[in-house]
Amino acid sequence: MPEPFSIPGTTAVVTGAAGGIGLAIARRLLHQGAARVVIIDLDADRVAAAAEELGDRADGVAFDVADEAAAAAAVARIEEDHGPIDLWCSNAGVAAGEGLGDDAAWELSWRVHVMAHVYAARALFPRMAERGRGHFLVTASAAGLLTQLDSAPYTATKHGAVALAEWLAIRHADDGISVSCLCPQGVNTAMTAGDGGTSATRLGGAYIEPEDVGEAVVAALHAGRFLVLPHPEAADYEQRRAADRDRWLEGMRRAWATIRAGAARGE
Ligand SMILES: NC(=O)c1ccc[n+]([C@@H]2O[C@H](COP(=O)([O-])OP(=O)(O)OC[C@H]3O[C@@H](n4cnc5c(N)ncnc54)[C@H](O)[C@@H]3O)[C@@H](O)[C@H]2O)c1
Repeated sequence: MPEPFSIPGTTAVVTGAAGGIGLAIARRLLHQGAARVVIIDLDADRVAAAAEELGDRADGVAFDVADEAAAAAAVARIEEDHGPIDLWCSNAGVAAGEGLGDDAAWELSWRVHVMAHVYAARALFPRMAERGRGHFLVTASAAGLLTQLDSAPYTATKHGAVALAEWLAIRHADDGISVSCLCPQGVNTAMTAGDGGTSATRLGGAYIEPEDVGEAVVAALHAGRFLVLPHPEAADYEQRRAADRDRWLEGMRRAWATIRAGAARGE
């Protein structure tokens, strides 16, 4: 079991943090005594507004996390300005591609949900390894442990994110780097604001608030747990899936039939 990660006094980075889950994680880290939290997102104005809201221990940088050169430059710049990065929360994500999706949705989902984590790790892990310490959190999704019936690109790339996080956790433990993987079900954010009553995520259970996710992240860091499950029932669903895949698939087909029947009634 990895060592618990102690937040007070650390320098942390959270991507996709101009709003939603990322902003809640940043707020929670500051509340727990992080010395400096740098938030990253695409739009400079949104980043600046969120950093200002977080207060004087927060800073913001705007760039595309799926751009490797930009990610490498940001890691170097942040360490120059604020010292060694102790914790990197690779959280940015997109909801792209209805159903099987088109190539653009697959490309975007792959770049943001998998390659962005790879680019951050490439830039950061050699630095963390040299120091013999650091923590890397990947925001995947319960979709990456189970499925998300609305979108194949989202589901498959979030499975990729979970697999990558596991691989990093195994291969880099010897370097003193610990890794965790955040897998929420529904959370009330901009990403899910348009979810109607027939959304597969809504059918999967109650939505929680971003602050609940921030709290779950901090608890898991303290406990040194790999999987961060703000919806504890996801652990049960995952066990059922592993125990009897055919039975689980049958249950998911029934859920899909319920969703389609609801949509046909115009719900
Ligand atoms: N909301 C949910 O129900 C839910 C459930 C499970 C997992 N997640 C995951 O949680 C993470 C945060 O999502 P959220 O719900 O807070 O949604 P959100 O849309 O509020 O936040 C996502 C943020 O990521 C940013 N972003 C997207 N692409 C980026 C890029 N290339 N570079 C930099 N920033 C980029 C967006 O601008 C946005 O601010 C995502 O990875 C999402 O897939 C969300």
